[in-house]
Amino acid sequence: MSIQVKMPNCLRSCDPASRPCPPPLFPRMMQNTVKKVEGAEGSAISMVLQNKNILLGVSGGIAAYKAAELVRLLVKAGATVRAVMTKNAQEFMTPLTLQSLSGNPVSTDTFDLTQESEIGHIRLADTADLVLIAPATANILAKIAHGIADDLLSTLLLVTRAPVIIAPAMNVHMYAHPATQENLKTLQRFGHHIIEPAEGELACGYEGKGRLAEPEQIVECVEATLTKKDLQGEHVIVTAGPNCEPIDPVRFITNRSTGKMGFALARIAHQRGAEVTLVSGPTALVAPFGVRLCSVRTALEMQQAVLAHYPRATIVVSAAAIADYRPAQTATQKIKKKDGDFSIPLARNPDILAGLGQDKGSRLLVGFATETEDVLHNAERKLHSKNLDMIVANDVTQEGAGFAGDTNIVTLLDRTGQQEPLPLMSKDAVAHAVYDRLLALKISP
Ligand SMILES: Cc1cc2nc3c(=O)[nH]c(=O)nc-3n(C[C@H](O)[C@H](O)[C@H](O)COP(=O)(O)O)c2cc1C
Repeated sequence: MSIQVKMPNCLRSCDPASRPCPPPLFPRMMQNTVKKVEGAEGSAISMVLQNKNILLGVSGGIAAYKAAELVRLLVKAGATVRAVMTKNAQEFMTPLTLQSLSGNPVSTDTFDLTQESEIGHIRLADTADLVLIAPATANILAKIAHGIADDLLSTLLLVTRAPVIIAPAMNVHMYAHPATQENLKTLQRFGHHIIEPAEGELACGYEGKGRLAEPEQIVECVEATLTKKDLQGEHVIVTAGPNCEPIDPVRFITNRSTGKMGFALARIAHQRGAEVTLVSGPTALVAPFGVRLCSVRTALEMQQAVLAHYPRATIVVSAAAIADYRPAQTATQKIKKKDGDFSIPLARNPDILAGLGQDKGSRLLVGFATETEDVLHNAERKLHSKNLDMIVANDVTQEGAGFAGDTNIVTLLDRTGQQEPLPLMSKDAVAHAVYDRLLALKISP
């Protein structure tokens, strides 16, 4: 019986050897190709939005109710949110809802604000670190594209100098109409970031492109826009999640990795300006916005996907819990139970990271050492034997560390002999620390 190695999805659709994968269009046009998986976990929130002033414009579409969840997520991430609603948006949701969730008054009328001594709409626009319009109707897109300022929201958009993110949501035909498409092109020319709507069932009964991007993805775009771009020009490969090594068509060997640490590393690298390829085993997570996802199952598929993108990579972060062994043979039919014990011969999987270390060139390589004993000693041994630049040592026996949770406790060990123990922190914060140290290594090798 032979082992069947399935071609990873990303290689089927865009094998760099034959046809290079197009770079993600973010930040100018953030493509919404990611469907929300049922029951999937939302993205972990990072610290980028702490004390940032976000001006949220809500216009009159059926998706206006999703602005409530957006405000909740932005406030949870530490942002101060001021909502501005168009007159028509108030037909779909009351200002009181957004006021209660944001803890700030909701502005609806240009002339209400002029009662203050300063000109209110100028101050609102000037104090914003970022303006987000979600949902954006076809009408508001047209108004901004043509400089019409006949209500508070459209006026603010002419005044502001802050980055503007627009998340359209509308009927499929409204979205596809040449007028809307031309307006979107104009807005991109102005430098505004557009979050493409998702495809799917629409509230109007039609099926197609027009559904507002998921609130978590919109928040990711806000974070990405406000994050320093110190990884610009880098191509980062991140591996994440577990492997599933098939025993027969219905059984496999796997491990407890959920992919959360790897997804955080991919999301933060993208937010800091890198082009990111995420090679992931099966997880329940939503792929980060703007990241190229290669879904794989086995260690051999993971190796194939990583090697396909390796020639262009400048940084590789191996956070996947790669299976050391696989069943030596995969049965083509379900194995029937019999009396007595049963054992499965295992074959050694390749050590992907060690292989990359032998052909490293000028790349920076980062590994993870997930251990339950003698953590630092084992990590240091791996760092040198695999020719890595850094290893993230992770004692999964500690509370708050390791698989499944949103936090981790790690020590960063680098090739210069430095050891940096980090306290309990979010996986996003660990990802930031990893890239900070990598950049420091790059500057002073
Ligand atoms: C029930 C209903 C749902 C609507 N949904 C949308 C929508 O999702 N997207 C959109 O662009 N317009 C939608 N419209 C049309 C807008 O409300 C209309 O174009 C309005 O002028 C938009 O005003 P505003 O952009 O100032 O908020 C909808 C209208 C109704 C009555």
